Amino acid sequence: KRIAVLASGRGSNFEAIARAVLSGKINAEVAVLIVDRKNIGAIERAEKLGINWVFVDPNGFPSREEYDSRIVAILKYLGVDLVCLAGYKKIVSAPFVDAFPGRIMNIHPTLLPSFPGLKPHEKVLKYGVNVSGATVHFVDKGVDTGPIIVQVAVPVSPDDTPETLSERILRYEHRIYPQAVKWFVDGRIELSGRKVIVKGADY
Ligand code: GRF
Repeated sequence: KRIAVLASGRGSNFEAIARAVLSGKINAEVAVLIVDRKNIGAIERAEKLGINWVFVDPNGFPSREEYDSRIVAILKYLGVDLVCLAGYKKIVSAPFVDAFPGRIMNIHPTLLPSFPGLKPHEKVLKYGVNVSGATVHFVDKGVDTGPIIVQVAVPVSPDDTPETLSERILRYEHRIYPQAVKWFVDGRIELSGRKVIVKGADY
């Protein structure tokens, strides 16, 4: 299987996936890292790991659909089977989702469906829940609404700031995202409506 990762920032989830691939834990290839910004950690990590990256400049396109259709063209050209959004700060348009049905994943650092969208840790702390977590899900046409593949619960401490909470959750993100990708690559994920069944998993 051929994987592409889309990122806009630090790139630690990209690196976790790439390392799992490079070490042979995931039987796949990272075909490309696509970024929508320059001078970001994700690019440095790709260079260090020897993974090809492409910057697709959003300024060159009149609409999100046209931007996304360029990205889809690159992904199709490279024969990509799975697209992983990892700290990618754009909402993917409907034609992008339709081009890769059940083949786009995202990670969100809360227990969805709670606290979707921007500034999740701020929302979690403001609300006062004492458990948060992380969710890997398939991408549908909504924001953080697609079928859930794997979740982990992480405690919130009364002293947390968005930074300390995000740091605690990030360590778990780095475990569950490669896990979800491995399940996909190994053909263990079955999607039935909103329900994701991982074959052979014990619950
Ligand atoms: C992660 O917390 C991810 O859940 C969220 O954005 C952050 C990206 O971090 N969507 P990184 O770029 O993978 O280090």
